[in-house]
Amino acid sequence: MKAEPLPIEGIDYVELYVGNAKQAAYFYQNGFGFAPSAYSGPETGVKDRTSYLMQQGDIRLLLTSALSPDHPIARYVITHGDGVADIALRVKDVDWTYKEAVKRGARGVRNPSILKDDHGVIRGAAIAAYGDTVHTFIERHEYKGAFAPGFVASKGNADPVGLKRVDHVVANVEEGKMDYWVEFYGKVFGFTQLISFDDKDISTEYSALRSKVVKNPTGTVKFPINEPATGRRKSQIQEYLDYFKGAGVQHLAISTDDLIATVSRLQGRGIEFLNTPESYYDGLAKRVGGMSEKIEDLKKLRILVDKDDKGYMLQIFTKPLQDRPTLFFELIQRKGSESFGKGNFKALFESIEAEQARRGNL
Ligand code: FE2
Repeated sequence: MKAEPLPIEGIDYVELYVGNAKQAAYFYQNGFGFAPSAYSGPETGVKDRTSYLMQQGDIRLLLTSALSPDHPIARYVITHGDGVADIALRVKDVDWTYKEAVKRGARGVRNPSILKDDHGVIRGAAIAAYGDTVHTFIERHEYKGAFAPGFVASKGNADPVGLKRVDHVVANVEEGKMDYWVEFYGKVFGFTQLISFDDKDISTEYSALRSKVVKNPTGTVKFPINEPATGRRKSQIQEYLDYFKGAGVQHLAISTDDLIATVSRLQGRGIEFLNTPESYYDGLAKRVGGMSEKIEDLKKLRILVDKDDKGYMLQIFTKPLQDRPTLFFELIQRKGSESFGKGNFKALFESIEAEQARRGNL
């Protein structure tokens, strides 16, 4: 039995809890080209935390740090390190969405509330997802301010690199829990399963994982969910779970209209990407074919290519964005393809495992 969809307009923002939001903001601004667009903290009447809203294209990252050691945000960071705490979903009606989600089995973590200032009204509520991750439901149709009450607009320069929107957000969950969370998104949100990969698709000589992708009916929200599978050595998903201390967001995939230009600029700013073996490019023209990009350009930047029956796509993965080998970004340019890069799993995972081995965890 399939649940009625819980209408979701899209991802409103992604909030990271971090150890030092001021410095993280500098990294996302000068590394990735996000513009600082709003701030909240003691100066704006919020006494327990600081938050920096960073924006590029339709993507909004909210970077938040606690100002005292016993704050729940501080405890999150002690446990998990810097990571995604909230994938906020924009809805038409927060009260109805929250009530309906809880009725369908979600655990409520914040009752619906109204925030008001001179610029209007925002409604919010939150439910629990995997690990310590939550989904805030947010309704901001009547709001004209910088971001939300308690925030003021920031003025800061940014040199954008063409990041456009969040393509998908990937969860790593504990072994045996993937199907639980696929069912959760089906039952609570009415999401359908788009695709699944098992350990035969996604394994190398050493490590394996299973993955299923769920999405909302309009396709504005896509959540792949991974779990580790048993291989000869430790799965990269297990390494994540060990360092993150539980389930959480593994990567945000961010789309661009010109991946070659985007990656060239990011590399120039010192952003580090996973390497791809030279041999990957040998049979590429034959494997994919009909690309408008030159193989030499892709090879120089170590960009990966995959195709399906609808077209092809270019993708590349950053190294972890913080000290723990947990959250990273994928940058993706879709040229018709709706794929998640199945054809690249082997090359990609061998590259991840090379990094894992350098950390002594393979
Ligand atoms: Fe991805």
